[in-house]
Amino acid sequence: MTVRIDPPGDKSISHRLLLLGGLAAGTSRFRRLLDAEDVRMTAAAMRQMGASIPEDWTGEVTIDGPVRWRAPPAPIECGNSGTTARLLLGTLAGLGLPAVLQGDPSLTRRPMDRVVYPLQAMGAKIRYLECHGRLPVELEERRSGSLRSLKLRPRVASAQVKSCLMLAALTAGVGLDVLEPGRSRDHTERLLHAMGAPIGFREGPVADPWIHVEAGGVAGELAPLDMTVPGDFSSAAFLLAAGWLGTGPVELRGVGLNPTRTGLLDVARSMGARYEVETSGSEAEEPVGQVAAWPTRLKSFDVDAGLLPGLIDEVPVLAVLAARAEGVSRLRGAGELRVKESDRLSILAANLRQLGVTCREQDDGLDIEGTDQPLRGTVRTAGDHRITMAFGVLGSVPGCDVSVDDPDSVAVSYPDFWRDLSRLSGTEAS
Ligand code: S3P
Repeated sequence: MTVRIDPPGDKSISHRLLLLGGLAAGTSRFRRLLDAEDVRMTAAAMRQMGASIPEDWTGEVTIDGPVRWRAPPAPIECGNSGTTARLLLGTLAGLGLPAVLQGDPSLTRRPMDRVVYPLQAMGAKIRYLECHGRLPVELEERRSGSLRSLKLRPRVASAQVKSCLMLAALTAGVGLDVLEPGRSRDHTERLLHAMGAPIGFREGPVADPWIHVEAGGVAGELAPLDMTVPGDFSSAAFLLAAGWLGTGPVELRGVGLNPTRTGLLDVARSMGARYEVETSGSEAEEPVGQVAAWPTRLKSFDVDAGLLPGLIDEVPVLAVLAARAEGVSRLRGAGELRVKESDRLSILAANLRQLGVTCREQDDGLDIEGTDQPLRGTVRTAGDHRITMAFGVLGSVPGCDVSVDDPDSVAVSYPDFWRDLSRLSGTEAS
């Protein structure tokens, strides 16, 4: 029997809505805002900066904008959340507020130069407090009107980088042009456009993806949004994978289907996976719909750099699909995976080998030889929520018995993951 599940609200969109709600002129109303550790970091930081965001997120969250921003009285703790750190840095730089930003040991290992250099080029004064290129960083107070416009061709396609810069440009009233090497998720662009911001971009995964923000300072004129946050495709991806691998047929409802996020579906099609997608509507220019998946015998895949931005968070679950597919799957151009919440390439390779799967680690990818032998053992997840969920899925596959050392790490993005997975496998506690 097909199990119907509403995945949790989109993490990327939820972070952005908190920030944009604080910048809008009027009251924003958000339903299904993701209630998970990462997004709570952004909310807590915004409270330190003067926003009033309720603690209880059941039902509807309202934010009265524009916030009367003030310098945070204590260092901002970003926890495990790269999106919090990078998007806030841009917002603070644009508003000219002094602040210190810090993170947990995982976030402290992740590169910050990719946002610090361009913000410095715009005129922000930022310094590293302990180690070059890493959190904690300190931002100096800035006179209003002292930030400059920027034209940038970032080296990596990163939604966090371009969103950081869009927020800095908008709040400072300066212009911005970004030409990405590939189209990363375009939620900030769509949401800002829906709010009436002077922003130009081409939707979806296109060649030469550019973004243009008009100079002129519109932050106080952004229209508030009233929306139900689409379900997170990256959370839904784990349940789709479980569906294909035979844990049980599944239908995910109310899932975000933004084409810059659904690259996994294209790869799954090339693997022969059985699924159906139906777009049923949209929320603030974000398409939403249903995806159903059925157990399938999968073939191996070949994924290279061009496909990466559209499935950047799905590599852990793709690796697990590869482990059960027929043939050798090949992933390349995925060097960015080494600077996510963990070095995902190395941890995936180590865990797959630990379970008896043949996996060769390359500088920028993996070669994974699928097997239909039962996989058994305990894996190390380095506290990385997506590694935990990927191996959780493998553990739910009939005939496999895999446990993870840190099941609670799912709280970062999908607190009810284990409950939803057990509904699918029919092992839910009654
Ligand atoms: C995110 C962008 C991606 C993604 C992350 C969330 C965002 O990171 O991996 O989970 O919300 O903008 P990069 O921009 O570093 O690729």
